[in-house]
Amino acid sequence: MSATLSAEALDLYRQRRAAGASVKSLAEELGIPWQRLDKALRHGIAGRAALVVEPPPVPEDTGPVEPERAVLPEPALQGPGLLIEKYRPTRLRTIFGQPQIVRRLQAFARAPYPAAFLFTGETGTGKTSAALALAAELGCDLEQKDFGGVQMLASGEQSAEAVRECCARMWLSPMCGSGWKVFILNEAERMHVQAETIWLDRLENIPPKTVVVFTSNHAAKLSPRFRDRCVHLPFQSGAKRLHESARTLLTKVWKAETGKPPRSQIVEQVVTEATVAGQLSFRRAVQLLQAHLPPKRESRRKR
Ligand SMILES: Nc1ncnc2c1ncn2[C@@H]1O[C@H](COP(=O)(O)OP(=O)(O)O)[C@@H](O)[C@H]1O
Ligand SMILES: [Mg+2]
Repeated sequence: MSATLSAEALDLYRQRRAAGASVKSLAEELGIPWQRLDKALRHGIAGRAALVVEPPPVPEDTGPVEPERAVLPEPALQGPGLLIEKYRPTRLRTIFGQPQIVRRLQAFARAPYPAAFLFTGETGTGKTSAALALAAELGCDLEQKDFGGVQMLASGEQSAEAVRECCARMWLSPMCGSGWKVFILNEAERMHVQAETIWLDRLENIPPKTVVVFTSNHAAKLSPRFRDRCVHLPFQSGAKRLHESARTLLTKVWKAETGKPPRSQIVEQVVTEATVAGQLSFRRAVQLLQAHLPPKRESRRKR
């Protein structure tokens, strides 16, 4: 299954359509919705994007991120839903509690090069969010997912075949966005041993405008050779370090949801409950806060 198309490939599909092939059958062959292919064939999005040679827009340096100054993650979803998704950080400056990593990735995004990162640390500390935020800083179009240059592989999908396919896709240009591609491979420690062997080889030669981000809660399970191929960024999870950032995040989420500041008792309780064996998870904290929120009033009917 191919999820991205080069200008040449798109021309080929145009010719086949002109020769009588249906858009539906061509889309099935590619493994993409027919509407997307139809749009690309009619408007030539892929053709134009594939020719982009401009470097990605240089993001502004927002300086060190202090919990007090950190802005609330932009709500990614509207209306009711899971707060953890609604307030998933979409830019690096809105990642809480990981100032060194944020600075490092911001510097990388200002002068990017083909690279592989390994984000390690406890669950719910911002690894996947940081990978997505990095993609945004590099100019990927997150709304368009793989068409915008962002591809995510869950742990269960990381077979040798899937990794080979993923590596082949790294050589294709995305239809939308700056042309940079970010491949996010979650729970890397659970990948098959053959998959790891393939990565060892492919990470020696990462295609242009490509970044690979592995995330892992158990870095020790990965082989030292694999770890050495990546830039290793360990995410903080110690409660002592994170509790202030967690308080700030929870207060901001509460205010955004209710319009009022929370009682400090609630915030303290949630921070305590979100701490397990001295490790604090922002995911747990935001999830727990949701249960304390007052039910939303139904909007009054118009008379
Ligand atoms: N550093 C963080 N700053 C702000 N929110 C966070 C952070 N880490 C986690 N969260 C919250 O938890 C959710 C899950 O985070 P995620 O990045 O998937 O964690 P991980 O990949 O480390 O398990 C996010 O959508 C967000 O709501
Ligand atoms: Mg994750």
